[in-house]
This record gives sequence, structure tokens and C-alpha cells, in this order.
Amino acid sequence: KHGHTPAPAGIDFDPVPPNTRDGVVIPEGYDQEVVIRWGDPVLPGAPEFDFDNQSEAAQQAQFGYNNDFAGLVPLDNAGIHSLLVVNHEYTSETYMFSGYDPQNPTEEQVRIAWAAHGLTVLQVKRDPARGGLVPLPGRYSRRITANTEFAARGPAAGSELLRTSADPEGTSIAGTIANCAGGVTPWGTILSGEENFHQYFAHADQVNDPVAKQRMQRYGINTGSSTRKWERFDQRWDASAEPNETNRFGWVVEIDPNDPNSTPVKHTALGRFKHEGATVRVAEDGHVVVYMGDDERFEYIYKFVSSGRVKNGRSSHARRHNMSLLDEGTLYVARFSGNSPESEIDGSGELPSDGEFDGAGEWLPLATGDTSHVPGFTAEEVYVFTRLAADEVAPTKMDRPEDIEPNPVNGRVYGALTNNSNRGAPEHAPADEPNPRAENKHGHVLELAEKSDDPTATKMAWRLLLVCGDPQQGDTYFGGFDKDQVSPISCPDNVAFDRHGNLWIATDGNGLGSHDGLFAVPVDGPARGHVKQFLTVPSGAETCGPIITDELVTVCVQHPGENGSGAENPGSHWPDGGRAHPRPSLVAVWRTDGHHVGEIGKR
Ligand code: FEO
Ligand code: CA
Ligand code: CA
Ligand code: CA
Repeated sequence: KHGHTPAPAGIDFDPVPPNTRDGVVIPEGYDQEVVIRWGDPVLPGAPEFDFDNQSEAAQQAQFGYNNDFAGLVPLDNAGIHSLLVVNHEYTSETYMFSGYDPQNPTEEQVRIAWAAHGLTVLQVKRDPARGGLVPLPGRYSRRITANTEFAARGPAAGSELLRTSADPEGTSIAGTIANCAGGVTPWGTILSGEENFHQYFAHADQVNDPVAKQRMQRYGINTGSSTRKWERFDQRWDASAEPNETNRFGWVVEIDPNDPNSTPVKHTALGRFKHEGATVRVAEDGHVVVYMGDDERFEYIYKFVSSGRVKNGRSSHARRHNMSLLDEGTLYVARFSGNSPESEIDGSGELPSDGEFDGAGEWLPLATGDTSHVPGFTAEEVYVFTRLAADEVAPTKMDRPEDIEPNPVNGRVYGALTNNSNRGAPEHAPADEPNPRAENKHGHVLELAEKSDDPTATKMAWRLLLVCGDPQQGDTYFGGFDKDQVSPISCPDNVAFDRHGNLWIATDGNGLGSHDGLFAVPVDGPARGHVKQFLTVPSGAETCGPIITDELVTVCVQHPGENGSGAENPGSHWPDGGRAHPRPSLVAVWRTDGHHVGEIGKR
């Protein structure tokens, strides 16, 4: 059944079949290597990793835990030297420490966990002779942690809602946590989404102010004590003691990897929710547009359009100007409508009679600068309690919006809706055309086209590119391509593009019995929808943060082995093998014959 349709440029490789091997499985003709793993040195002089002798000081100088997003910012035109920036989303203490007592973590364990969160910045060098990426700890090296100082910027900076006893001005925030996906800006900085911050706080049930309490409920701020018990060692994690501290997380942060002494920023103009990530497209007239998902069941898709316009070039003047663009603009939330009769959208996932899940959509403005567009909300309230403000304008409740990213070739925007087991359940929203499957176990991929291809437009058209799952089942859709030829795919999470405009999708939570992996799919031409699996990851891991260049594919392998029962009995020994503890790592994959990734006819 192969060879009916020639593979478009960039994806001519033999697909990796679904499997459950405890390793990274790649196509024939490719090689791989771990670039950096949890505990490896980041700062010059950092100690080598020693599982049995961890310390806060060592972790502050080493690669953090659970790498999710990765971005490369080139330092030269040949793509040899780059700055690598990686998110460390969360910690899994039962796997990080031998004999960990979840009820009574030690202060040192908690301090190690603070240091294992945040981001890593590190120079890397591509090795054109043998392939792969080599870390070069040096002057760009930086660890950002749960305690690094951030500047709050934009319309809610300094708001009463952000003031705490440690920061009476409401402008200086300690740390970033739950950093999931992100994006590289055209001006060479990194955006990173603070996602599941709610779990780090304790005692939202003991908050006295009923308004504050109700706002915390909308964000699911943890009640009772927190899983990690941080509140025992720093009171700011106790929501009843320091309620506004909860308002200081759930932002998009911006890091300038070129300047290790820069103060990273929390952008209040981009709203506060469980930010999966943030990706940028610049409109023809220079306005900067940021696409964002709020990753929880029945949450929304957002975009931000800057008031100012980008300045070209890499001069320090241009960079400073561009780094201020996300301080002011309009924040929008998306409403999608279908074009097929509701009677044909029955939750089965079967296509309606017009042959597509598709329709129109609009972007509903929530606030512009200091002006609110939502009755009953001040602008500051729109930015800090964005979910509550958005609820007022009836956006579309989506099946967990994860990564959303504009395609650099065709301009359309692709969003992963990872899954939603509650779709169509009693007391929950029913299936609709943009989320057409009840009990959506395998997720889908949305494609939207801004009106006149202008990312600042307030109208759009949309259609589903993929309804994921077992291609042999009637509730799946692969862009109209022959389902006998595609790789099964489940739970899309991160999206990326190669230079040719093919969409690459990393998965988290495969519901088909295979390990998670990375897939490539053309979005235009006769092969649109031809999903091919490029790699699978080890036991218990999700695939994150893919970067696709001509020379390399990199992925973050997050939480390998966490299908086991803890450090004494992990579900994986990857990457070190033997009886080693699993370590979240970044992996590089390249062609052994020196040709480009997926180059036509070269294999
Ligand atoms: Fe951290 Fe939405 O995945
Ligand atoms: Ca339709
Ligand atoms: Ca994710
Ligand atoms: Ca996920």
C-alpha cells in the first residue's frame, strides 16, 4: 500500500510502527544521541549528577527536571552555534529521591524541587561531521528557577491584585513554575507558558474573602495541603495566608537568552490562565500576534494583537523596542461556529454530510490596554481573571487547547486539542462541530485561516485537519487522506513546522496502546493528512518540544519511567540503561548520510 502518493519535501522517511520499546525508536537511516539530561551541568563548573547525593546548590547549576518546550535561537548564520532554551515543567519527587516521604518532604528536597523548576539557557554547538548537538556551558549559561526574580509588565503590573507582603508594589515576582510549551519570538527571545500553577498552592478553601475564593475556584487553586508541601517552607504557597500570590502565576513569561543578566518578564497583557504556550506571527503591517491555548477541559483559545509594530534588525534599539511590544494590545478569545446542521453532529465523530468538520469563527475582544471590553470587569480584572471575563462573552469551550502555532509557509494556524473525556457527559457541554466527538479520548487538530490571511483579523474560517485515534475506526479523520496509509496518532500536544510547512505533532497520553511519539503530516497538496510517525519515546514518557530543522530533529522526553511506582521501581531505565534511574532528557536525531531530514528520495 505504499507509494500511492509521493511524500512531499521534508517527510520522506519510513514511518516508525507503534511500539512499546523502552527507548527512542527512530526511522532507518537516522542516528540519535541525548543532548542533555536531568542533572547534567549547565553552569560552568557545575558538579556531575549524583542521584544519591543531590543538593539545592548542585541542582541550581544543573539541567532541571521534566523538560517540556525547547527552543533554539541561532547565534550564527550557518546554524552551528545556538542558544538552547528548555522549560522544566514540574517535579516528580517520588521518582527524583530514594525513600521520599510524600507526607514529610525535607526542606532540602523542597529546595531541590524549586531549583529543578523553571528554565535552562545554554549554548549548544551542532557537529556537522558526526551529527548531534553538544552543550557548551559558558557565558550564556543560566538557570531560572521557582525563585528567580521576574518583572511584572503590562496593564496589570502594579495592580492591587498582584501586591503581596513581599512585594507591596506588585511588580516583582519570585520565580516561574509549570512552564509547559512556548515559542521563539522573531526578535530572538523565548515565550513560555505557566500552565498548571494551581497545584502548587495550598488551602484555597480557607480563604476568607468570598470574591477571592470564587476567583480561585475558577482556576482550580488547590484546597487542603499541596502535593509537594511547599507551603511548609515558604508561606507564599499558602493561598489563605497570601491570597494574591496565586495571581502572580499563570502568565506568559519572556526570557532573553542573549543576556544572562536580564530580568525575565511576566506579560500581564497576554492574560492569566493555564497557558500551554505562546507563539508569534507578525502581520504584514508589523503588528505582533500571539496565539495561546488554555489547557483544561472546556477552556478557550486566545490571541493577543500588539498596539505597536515590530522594528526589523537585531540592533539593541530594535530589540528593546520589540521586547516592549507585548506590553500593550488587544486580548481576544475565540468563538467557533459550525456549518453543518446540529443534527449531524451527534458525538459519534462520523463526518457530517458536507464531508468536513468546519465553519466560521470570530475573535471576541476582552480588553485593549487599560480599557475593558467586558461589562462588569475592569481592565486589570480582565487580565488577572481572564477566564472569568471570557466566560461573559460566550467563547467556544474546547477539548483542552494545547499548543497553537502559525504555519510559516501557508499562514494558517494549527492547534492541538489533546482530549476531553468529559465531552458530552451529563452536565457538561455536548459535542459540537469544532469538538465533534463525545468522550474524546484521542483528541483532534484544528486548522484556522484568518480572514484575508491577516493575523490581526477578527474573523476566520476553520476546519479540523485530524480527528485522531485508530484509523480503522469510523470516528477518525485524516484530512481526507487514505486511512489505510496513515500512522495511528492519539493525544496531540505540541505542534511545530519544518521549513516546508509540514506540521509535526508530539503526543502526550497515547490511548492506543503504543508509546507516545512524534509525527509529521503535510497540510497542503495531495498528501494532506498523510500522518507518518517519526519516532516513539521510552516507557511512561510523553514527547514534547519538537524542533525541526534541515539537519536535526530534537524532542524533549518528559517523565520517562513514571508508569512505575517510584524511584525504587521506575517503569524505565532510559537513557542510562541497566538499573539506572530514568532521567528526562533532550534528544537529537539526524541523518547518518548527511542529507537533510526527510529529503525526497534520499534513504
Ligand atoms: Fe503541560 Fe498542556 O501540557
Ligand atoms: Ca461542516
Ligand atoms: Ca503540553
Ligand atoms: Ca499535555
